Amino acid sequence: MTAQNRTALVTGASAGIGAAFARLLASEGYSLLLVARRVERLEEIAAELAAAHGVRCEVFAADLNDPAAPAAIMAFAQKQGLAIDVLINNAGLSGKTAFGDTPWSALAGEIQLMVTALTELCHRVLPGMRERGWGRIINLSSLAAFSPPGASLLYTGIKSYVLNISQSLDMELKPQGIHVTALCPGFTRSEFHNVMGTRDEADKLPGILWQEAEDVVREGWEAVMKGRPVCVPGTVNKLIASSVRPLPVALQYHLGNRLNPFRDA
Ligand SMILES: NC(=O)c1ccc[n+]([C@@H]2O[C@H](COP(=O)([O-])OP(=O)(O)OC[C@H]3O[C@@H](n4cnc5c(N)ncnc54)[C@H](OP(=O)(O)O)[C@@H]3O)[C@@H](O)[C@H]2O)c1
Repeated sequence: MTAQNRTALVTGASAGIGAAFARLLASEGYSLLLVARRVERLEEIAAELAAAHGVRCEVFAADLNDPAAPAAIMAFAQKQGLAIDVLINNAGLSGKTAFGDTPWSALAGEIQLMVTALTELCHRVLPGMRERGWGRIINLSSLAAFSPPGASLLYTGIKSYVLNISQSLDMELKPQGIHVTALCPGFTRSEFHNVMGTRDEADKLPGILWQEAEDVVREGWEAVMKGRPVCVPGTVNKLIASSVRPLPVALQYHLGNRLNPFRDA
């Protein structure tokens, strides 16, 4: 089977890394199912990619904070006759307010979006991938999973979960032809910091820390195709990840507490 007969489901495809994944996969000939809340954005991207690459490109508006969304996405795919061979679990954001000052509904929404929906979608695409003996799953973790935790942020814990579960899934599923990769970008140009409300602080960080979404996506896709369970894209990010991990936990705690650039944002 070639990419021309395969379909990729990309969540959070209306912006940033997800839109870059949609562009890369369309250029390789994959049919696409694009998911996010902003359906007009998805429709624009779908029209662009269908015209540029002649691929089938469907869109589905879903709020992944809604526990019913993963089932609804898969029901739509089935109705359209789309078998999901590639899953890019990308939709995500970071809250910024302190844990104790954030309503539970917002915290629960972050967990639903980046933990429960991500895990459920992995589970829901599996039967088809197993039947066909081929599947590729990329789960968006973050360099934050390798970094010391920042005060009050759920984000580091969530992305650590994604890094961990992706490796477990890869161990279980690789013998069945299904590769799973945790993609762990550092600072990547996208709408992420606009949504988080940290654009000004982010823009003050040195340029060397930043990557373009297209570069992150290219490296992530190469990693999953080669069967690498973890991908930290970019030389600077690799250096950061490999130098933080060996530090004693007490020192990581101290660094996390002192060096979070968004603590007072
Ligand atoms: N940018 C970075 O520096 C960076 C670094 C490490 C990891 N990451 C991770 O990379 C992933 C993509 O982030 P990005 O940088 O591309 O951010 P972005 O430009 O803000 O894009 C986020 C995407 O997620 C979608 N999304 C957010 N909440 C959603 C919801 N409730 N339901 C459905 N879709 C939702 C958004 O679509 P709608 O608003 O249209 O729903 C958008 O398409 C995230 O998981 C993020 O944690 C980013």
